[in-house]
Amino acid sequence: MQELDTKKRKLIEFLAEKNILLSPELLNELNSESDSSNLSELINKKLNETTQPKKEKTRTPGIVNIVFSYTGPPKKSTAQDFINHFNSRYTLLKKLLQNRAQLENIVSISRLKTKSEKENVAIIGMVYSKEDTKNGIMLTVEDPTGSTKVFFGKTKPGIFMKAKDIVLDEVLGITGVSGKGIIFGNGIFSPDIPLTKEIKKSPEEEIALFMSDLHVGSRYFLEDEFLKFISWINGDLGNEKQKEISSKVKYIFLTGDTIDGISIYPTQKEELTILTFKEQYKKLAYYLKMIPEDIKLILCPGQHDVVPIAEPQIPLPKEYCGELYEMPNLIFVSNPAMVNIGSNEEFPGFDVLLYHGGSYNYYADKVESIRMQQPNLSDRSENVMKFLLQKRHLSPTYDGYPRLATETDHMIIDKIPDIFISGDVHKHSTFSYKNVITGIVSSCFQSKTSFQEKVGHVPEPGIIPLLNLKTREVKLLNFGGTQEK
Ligand SMILES: [Fe+2]
Repeated sequence: MQELDTKKRKLIEFLAEKNILLSPELLNELNSESDSSNLSELINKKLNETTQPKKEKTRTPGIVNIVFSYTGPPKKSTAQDFINHFNSRYTLLKKLLQNRAQLENIVSISRLKTKSEKENVAIIGMVYSKEDTKNGIMLTVEDPTGSTKVFFGKTKPGIFMKAKDIVLDEVLGITGVSGKGIIFGNGIFSPDIPLTKEIKKSPEEEIALFMSDLHVGSRYFLEDEFLKFISWINGDLGNEKQKEISSKVKYIFLTGDTIDGISIYPTQKEELTILTFKEQYKKLAYYLKMIPEDIKLILCPGQHDVVPIAEPQIPLPKEYCGELYEMPNLIFVSNPAMVNIGSNEEFPGFDVLLYHGGSYNYYADKVESIRMQQPNLSDRSENVMKFLLQKRHLSPTYDGYPRLATETDHMIIDKIPDIFISGDVHKHSTFSYKNVITGIVSSCFQSKTSFQEKVGHVPEPGIIPLLNLKTREVKLLNFGGTQEK
């Protein structure tokens, strides 16, 4: 009870500092409130009633079409599912690799036997194993007809360095010289994206905004900063230019971890203010409902959400988040997913690839060229995303991050996105890949937790990247999160 009184006093002091005085009725209501978790909700509700009347709809509605979203059904994987899964991966990526001039004359691995020694050969295979040896790197590579050893010697430093970055289960093209049961490799090719794709620009002045990792329900959720964002998106905060920007926002992407979840890491319970998934989603709905209804929200799960962690993750289920399902402007998709935004009769719209980024830590650590470039794990997402675009796969190593052996491999980047967005590391970054793909990693609205301290993340909360779809320029707004030291 004493703790509750202290909490009430602190709230009143906090509001007084912001020159917000409470009405006698609200003070009475506050005094009769016996549950501390309801206090801030009650205050915000009242403030909204008094200071934020629902805005008239001012935007023409944005257009969102779901291109791909995995919906299950959930089932136990069989041995046959694994076979189909890897076959589908091989077939799809082989098709992309075959377009390359250097791989025009590929042979199946079983036909290598017919080649004489020192003959030039080209194969497309999946990496089964990788070993560091005294003189180089030895791979075992498979295709549906068999397997072969491939060696990259240290005497050819250029290709050796490239071989160092090869990861297990990726599909690649290899050229080399045949030996007895072995290929001496001299070329490595990833499916990648062709240079012929043109950068798309919308005829309309529309803005897409990117957020993830709100972690509602965590003690470290930055509510004040998030409410500042809410004021801005409602046109109540910022200078004229900033208000004009907010009026053009038509799409808000929420790329996972919108709640903190339950039992995600051992000491989490002590760091929670809301102790069930349902209540956390209810609180999230309470915040998201403050966003103008004429903005489309697109939401995918992350590893803190209620759905199983193995990817692809299905969209958030109604049984846990009924209040979110009441929102007419909220679109639920899987992780990963692809949606198309901003299309009209003359314009095809933008394909946006959403992936929370669960697999990134693995490649940030395992791929030497990425690990060496950035000492800090939180700064490596950009290079990991570029690496995965080259592989045309979001999580090539099967054991790198929890996966479902779906009949078709949905982690393949089959369709080339215009915009590729992620979250997970709690630190924003923006990049351009081959001049046509805009890559964006969202920031967060959570200060540093003990778990992030452990995994080496250095969050930078409260940064909101905004993409102008007409100019393809990214601008940042800072809602100023405080960093825990
Ligand atoms: Fe997160």
